[in-house]
Amino acid sequence: MRTDTPQTIYRKDYTAPSYLVDAVELGFDLDPARTVVANRLTLRRNDAAGTGGARREIELYGEELQLVAIRLNGKALGARDYAIDGALLRIPCDAQDVVLEIETICVPETNTTLSGLYVSNGNFYTQCEAEGFRRITYFPDRPDVMATYTVMLRADKRQFPVLLSNGNLIEEGDLPDGRHYALWEDPFKKPSYLFALVAASLVCQEETFPLQDGRRALLQVWVEEGNLDKTDYAMQSLKRSIRWDEERWNLELDLDRFMIVAVGDFNMGAMENKGLNIFNTKYVLANPRVATDVDFQGIEAVVGHEYFHNWTGNRVTCRDWFQLSLKEGLTVFRDQEFSADMIGTASGRAVTRIDQVRTLRQAQFPEDAGPMAHPVRPDSFVEINNFYTVTVYEKGAEVVRMYQTLLGRDGFRKGMDLYFARHDEQAVTCDDFRAAMADAGGRDLSQFERWYSQAGTPVVQAETHYDAERQTYTLRLVQSCPATPGQAGKLPFHIPVAVGLLGADGRDLPLTLDGVDLGTTAVLELVEADQSFVFGGVREQPTPSILRDFSAPVILKYGYSDAELVLLFSHDSDPVNRWEAGQRLAMGRLLKLAEDAAAGRSLDLDDVFVDAMRKMLVDASLDPAFREQALLLPSETMIADQMDVVDPMAIHMARQFVRADIGARLRSELRAQYDASQTPGEYSPDAESIGRRALKNLCLAYLCAAPDEAAIALARRQFDEAGNMTDRVAALGALVHARASSAVADAAAHADDALRRFYDEFQGEALVVDKWFAMQASAPTTDVAAVRALMTHPAFTLRNPNRARSLVSTFCGANPVGFHAPDGSGYAFWAESVIALDALNPQVASRLARAMDRWRRYAPALQKHMKKALQQVAGRATLSNDVREVVGKALA
Ligand code: PHE
Ligand code: ZN
Repeated sequence: MRTDTPQTIYRKDYTAPSYLVDAVELGFDLDPARTVVANRLTLRRNDAAGTGGARREIELYGEELQLVAIRLNGKALGARDYAIDGALLRIPCDAQDVVLEIETICVPETNTTLSGLYVSNGNFYTQCEAEGFRRITYFPDRPDVMATYTVMLRADKRQFPVLLSNGNLIEEGDLPDGRHYALWEDPFKKPSYLFALVAASLVCQEETFPLQDGRRALLQVWVEEGNLDKTDYAMQSLKRSIRWDEERWNLELDLDRFMIVAVGDFNMGAMENKGLNIFNTKYVLANPRVATDVDFQGIEAVVGHEYFHNWTGNRVTCRDWFQLSLKEGLTVFRDQEFSADMIGTASGRAVTRIDQVRTLRQAQFPEDAGPMAHPVRPDSFVEINNFYTVTVYEKGAEVVRMYQTLLGRDGFRKGMDLYFARHDEQAVTCDDFRAAMADAGGRDLSQFERWYSQAGTPVVQAETHYDAERQTYTLRLVQSCPATPGQAGKLPFHIPVAVGLLGADGRDLPLTLDGVDLGTTAVLELVEADQSFVFGGVREQPTPSILRDFSAPVILKYGYSDAELVLLFSHDSDPVNRWEAGQRLAMGRLLKLAEDAAAGRSLDLDDVFVDAMRKMLVDASLDPAFREQALLLPSETMIADQMDVVDPMAIHMARQFVRADIGARLRSELRAQYDASQTPGEYSPDAESIGRRALKNLCLAYLCAAPDEAAIALARRQFDEAGNMTDRVAALGALVHARASSAVADAAAHADDALRRFYDEFQGEALVVDKWFAMQASAPTTDVAAVRALMTHPAFTLRNPNRARSLVSTFCGANPVGFHAPDGSGYAFWAESVIALDALNPQVASRLARAMDRWRRYAPALQKHMKKALQQVAGRATLSNDVREVVGKALA
């Protein structure tokens, strides 16, 4: 907690470290109230780093540490031999080789930030990314300092029978006074943010797994006792990840042992510590009784993600934190490809791609258009923890995907190979990655650099002209990018635009550009601000399918007619654009209906749209998973992002109206599809079954959006008879969302009864209790008063991040009607919660703070309340850097 003005750190100020660390030896005497850390560093002067004429110093960082002793080459240092300025400890020194010994004390049991060494449910865990290692010991805690680690752990044997750290277990044994020890050695050089230890009472599922080169690796998934019935899927996902990395990229596990540990208190999803991944329980624990299909998919993706970091992040790491997307964008791309390959079918791949597009529009486009907008490689930050964003992660993954689109799969693979050949065991930059791609592909990718340096979502405006006489079709693309904080003008991007042309019968027309035959999908390279492409031999007026497979993270504008969209929605051979056509049809109506709702006009939905939805619903030639995506309306957040002045209530009324109207007008088709989509037999989280359940449960949601007694009875029956959490929670959601319906007797009683029974059955399962809170927090009938009441529930606590998020963050981020109450009560609650959380855990508080990012987009009456709430937070004397940066930028 700082009271002084926070400092901005700039990418341009990077300087190399004055000393490098070759080896680290750490000794831990673990005690929740007083842990003693002995740190022995072998340092080497870095002559590549100039000192700018100043005398050379060893620079170490430390936070919340009690310094006991420092020795330099065996000589004890006194207070005058070094200087401490905030977190920075500087020791004047010019020797070539230095051994530095530092002893410090920290207090894990009072560490509520969950950064550094902390206690969760009586066990010790660490979290060091980005700058947590400095809360464990003084160290040059920056990712370009890579060292080997030897770690001695000592702790009470009965309380902490399991002692884990990175790498290989060298030795273990007993000590006097009921204590024991374990010695671990990590043979690979790593930055300090990848250090980890666990000292705990845990159990594991384990097996040995054959690697490509014939070695066998020991794989372990560690959990609290009682959760051993929920580790199977994580273990399976780990084995699939190892195999996939070998097969697709020829990348092998470089250790003999790989461990996953689940912890209930964790700020993020999971962490890729070398050989010792630490996970939020949410991304490990699953069985059909407690976890949904989405949970299973999340586990596979996150287990993959962390495992893939072993090469993209750990073996090749980041030079500085501005390069975060070097590892995160690339690793998200890799986990996306992994998930797609695990499904295997073309249509399954498309569904994963649609999900990615949805995430971008739901979260990244709004971020890129708000006060926290930043390039994929930021130029400055106050608090690095605020930059673990959808821009760095998901837009970063889109940037990596565009290399593959431009270079082709083989070309991209060559680029990856070159990247590893050049940079293994180095700390590098996004430019190094781009250079590897350019050199391997023999291409000039200098303009592509702007995807890293310019923030904001580019807009591509398309115009077309068909010349029947010449049989040419001209596609004119004009690109622009709105101003973002600190970046007024933008230069043109290098944008791959995948295009197809449909004939009147919906079939792809062959494409010819400058006499070259391009098949049926052409990847055009838009590099100018305004560029035209002329297709030849076009025998009829076509319908353009632009930005196939979402070939670039841009907003495409084109004046499609309803007839063209209906043609694309029923025929486009590119499933992503087929889905997209449906979204455009829906969005047009939703925006118009929101205007009508705001003006108090009556609402009405046309047959063209309802018929298109009906056709999609009953088209048995299409995968259920795809149909579910195609029938799902754009979210309220996505609709809001299209409006100059956001009216949350009008948006909600419009979307609810469309849902209810579809529910009523397609009632018999929905009911028939519900019955046809059952998944008899034992639960299995395979893509086919997941798709069927998703479509079935969407049908149920539509039926309950216009509820009659039959719909509610159906939901109740599903709730009672569900054999898995996916179906159970879907039925619960349908009942809770229908709670205010006047068409059904006792709608509220049905909802309350189901909620009560759900809690009773699952109160012992923390992750399910989170679902219970989140379900209520997101229901439009839940207002601030109801949330406050839920906060007094014995199961609620602000101290556990998952729990705090399930209620408070869900309400502020996923319940627009409740949060944007006209009296400003939602915003007052937000301010109160941000302040209360900030005193415990700045990272969680700061994420919540971002719920107000786009406050200037709302109607003036709401803005006034929002500004007041923001000022209330900003005006606090003590505030973390994390929250101060977010509210400061929002108000700027
Ligand atoms: N590096 C982690 C990941 O994306 C995320 C993380 C960041 C976890 C900071 C904890 C703290 O895989
Ligand atoms: Zn990551």
